[in-house]
Amino acid sequence: MINIQQKHLLQVPSGLLQVPRLPQSSSTHGYAAQPSDLVFPIHFSLIIPTFNERDNIEKMVGQLSQLLDEVLPNDYELLVVDDNSPDLTWQYAQDLTDQYPNLLVMRRQHERGLSTAVIRGWQAARGEVVGVIDADLQHPPAVLLQLLEKIDAGADLAVASRHVEGGGVSSWSATRRFLSRGAQLLGLMILPRVLSSVSDPMSGYFLVKRKAIAGVPLNPVGYKILLEVIGRGDIQQIAEVGYVFQEREVGESKVTWRQYKDYLHHLTRLRIDSGRLGRWGRKFNFPMGRFIRFAFVGLSGLLVDMGLLYFFYEILSFGLTRSAILAGELAIVNNFLWNDRWTFKDLSKKQSSPRQQLKRFLKFNIICLMGLILKILLLNVLFNGLHLNAYLANFLAIAVVTAWNFWINLRLNWRVTQIG
Ligand code: GDD
Ligand code: MN
Repeated sequence: MINIQQKHLLQVPSGLLQVPRLPQSSSTHGYAAQPSDLVFPIHFSLIIPTFNERDNIEKMVGQLSQLLDEVLPNDYELLVVDDNSPDLTWQYAQDLTDQYPNLLVMRRQHERGLSTAVIRGWQAARGEVVGVIDADLQHPPAVLLQLLEKIDAGADLAVASRHVEGGGVSSWSATRRFLSRGAQLLGLMILPRVLSSVSDPMSGYFLVKRKAIAGVPLNPVGYKILLEVIGRGDIQQIAEVGYVFQEREVGESKVTWRQYKDYLHHLTRLRIDSGRLGRWGRKFNFPMGRFIRFAFVGLSGLLVDMGLLYFFYEILSFGLTRSAILAGELAIVNNFLWNDRWTFKDLSKKQSSPRQQLKRFLKFNIICLMGLILKILLLNVLFNGLHLNAYLANFLAIAVVTAWNFWINLRLNWRVTQIG
C-alpha cells in the first residue's frame, strides 16, 4: 500500500550524480513503476531547492505557476527539493500540490547541500530543459520567460546575471560586494575558461538543455552549481539575461564562511579534473586529486623538517644526527596527520578507531623509512652512475620516491582496494 502522505513525494535518486539522457521510469514520480512505463518528456523542469523556506514557498510556487501556465500550459513541472527542513517546508510544499498539479516535491533525508539537491532534482525531472531558481524570491520569477526564450533561440545555457545590462544587486553592503567580486577574480585565476564564459558565474538562476549535461557524472562542492555545469557540460552557446538580485523578505540566507571554503575546494577540483593532469589521470585510472594532496603534504613536511632541524641544531645545539632524526620523525608525524585527515580522509573515516589509526601511523613510518632508503639508492645511481648534477639527481629521486610512497600508502596503508 502506498502511504497517502508519501504518494506525491518524488523518490530521491541515489548513486552517481548524473542526469540521464532521457527521463527515467515513472517510479520516481511516486506511482508504482511498470517496466513498460514510458515517461514522456516535457519541455521544462524547474528545480526549487529549499531549506527552511516555509514562509516563501507558497508565494514562489504561485508566481511561477501563473507565469508558466501562460507560456507552457501542462508542459512544465516545478520540483521542490527540500533537505528535510526543520520548519517542514517539504510538507507545506506538498500541501500545495492539489492546488498546483504541476508541482512535485522531493524530501531528502540522507543527503544535504544545495548543489546536490539541484542535481537530484534534475535526475528525477522530465524536462528537455532543466533549470534552477532560489526559493526566497531573490530571483525575480518574471526573468524566467526571457531565459526560456534564449533557450528556444538556440542557447544551451541561459544564465540570469547581475552583471549585464539590466542587472544588479539591490542593497548589498560594500563588504559583500567586495567578497563577491573577490571570489570571482580568484576563480578567474584558477579556472579562466569557466569563469570567463559568463559575467555572473556565481548565479544560482539559470536554465540548461538536458542534452548538454546528460551522461556526465557531476561532482560539485557547496553552492556554485553553475561552475559544475559549465566545467563539465557540453555547452556550445551561452546567453545571459540581466536581473536585479532582490532583498530577502523572510527567512535567512544560508551563506557562511563555509561557502567560501567550499567554493575554493570546488574550483581546485574542477581545475584538476579539467586540466591535462586530470585527463591523463582518468585515462590511466590514477587518483590525481589525491596524489596532488599527497604531494602538497610532502612539501609541508619538507618545511617542517628544515625548520625543526634549524631549531634543534642551531638553537638547542643538539648534534647534527640527533637533530636530523628528531626533525625527520616529527615531519613524518606532520605528514601522517595531514594525510590521514585530508588526503585519505574518506578512507580513514571508515576505520577510525585509535587502534586502526595507530596501525596506519606505524605502517606510514615503515613506508617512509623504505622510501628514504630508496631515495638514497636512486640518488647514488643518478649521481654516481649517470653523472647527473647533484641537485637535479636529488630532485628526480624525491619525485620518484613521492610517487612510490603515495602508491604504497594507497594500496597497503589506507587501502583503497578493500573499501572500494
Ligand atoms: N535543498 C537545499 N539544501 N536547499 C538549500 C540548501 C541546502 O543545503 N542551502 C540553501 N538552499 C536553498 C535556499 O533555501 C534558497 O532557496 C537557495 O538555496 C539559495 O540559498 P540562500 O541561502 O538564500 O543563498 P543566497 O541568498 O546567499 O544566494 C547566493 O546563492 C544563490 C544560489 O547559488 C547568491 O550567490 C545567488 O546569486 C545564488 O543564486
Ligand atoms: Mn537567498
